[in-house]
Amino acid sequence: MENEARLEADRLQIEGRLASILPQRDRLTEAMRYSLLAGGKRLRPILTLEFCRACGGEDRAALDAACGVELLHTYTLIHDDLPAMDDDGLRRGKPTNHVVYGEWLALLAGDALQAEAFAAILSGPGSHRARAEAAAILAEAAGSRGVCHGQFLDLDGEGRRLSEAEITALNEGKTGALISAACRIGCVCAERYELLSAAGAYGRELGLAFQLRDDLLDARSTTAELGKPVGSDEKNGKATLLSLYGEERCRELIRETTDRALDILRKDFGGPGFLLWLTEKLAGRSK
Ligand code: IPE
Ligand code: IPE
Ligand code: MG
Ligand code: MG
Ligand code: MG
Repeated sequence: MENEARLEADRLQIEGRLASILPQRDRLTEAMRYSLLAGGKRLRPILTLEFCRACGGEDRAALDAACGVELLHTYTLIHDDLPAMDDDGLRRGKPTNHVVYGEWLALLAGDALQAEAFAAILSGPGSHRARAEAAAILAEAAGSRGVCHGQFLDLDGEGRRLSEAEITALNEGKTGALISAACRIGCVCAERYELLSAAGAYGRELGLAFQLRDDLLDARSTTAELGKPVGSDEKNGKATLLSLYGEERCRELIRETTDRALDILRKDFGGPGFLLWLTEKLAGRSK
């Protein structure tokens, strides 16, 4: 299958499973589904599926875990947009969760999505070992050494000038940790535990490139193209590598991190064509 068609097929497979994993029962599940099923690139669950494949596993071994990663990611987006955090009004081309449902329900929708993420992973079809390891990887990536740590550094750094090392640590936490977990969970679903460290290293490089591109798009793209407000980082006085070094260095860093990610795919995973293509595509993405 051609790469674009495969990307679309992966996306549709994930969309379908997400819609059935979380049925609507009340206004809480309505709020959860509002953000979960609003579109989005589905990059993280696609990485889980594709790493499982690159490790020789089958899609059905990874699909529920992939959805778990996306459930968790969606919670981070809902909370990231809250007035107490980035205070943004548009996400995935629609008004943000708290704008539609109010703050307390948006908070609860995020909390519940986080719990459902672990339920999806732990009730999936794999061995006990695979499910436990996948849940442990997601927990570490989500918690006080992962996304929450990165978000803490991000908000604590508002209005201050941080060093390159400090901004990199922030980016590794808020973005790299979950992208890296998505790749590692794919290996776990295929029970290829010996590849975990290489998949983690790839995910960290891709995560850095991904956040650099996100920062560039925040400053240079349009709200219509992105489906979220541009200029959010400047509004909030965020410390980013773009604000520290400017656009040219930011583009060089995207190239360098992407090249390191590509090298890991070639060296440790036998150069899987689709993942090589996707990694390169993300370096130049426009949304
Ligand atoms: C947005 O992630 C948050 C960041 C880590 C930059 P995505 O750009 O993957 O958002 P969706 O899932 O496609 O909406
Ligand atoms: C993403 O950082 C962090 C998480 C959602 C964990 P941003 O705050 O830059 O993400 P966007 O730009 O709002 O998607
Ligand atoms: Mg943020
Ligand atoms: Mg934000
Ligand atoms: Mg951003």
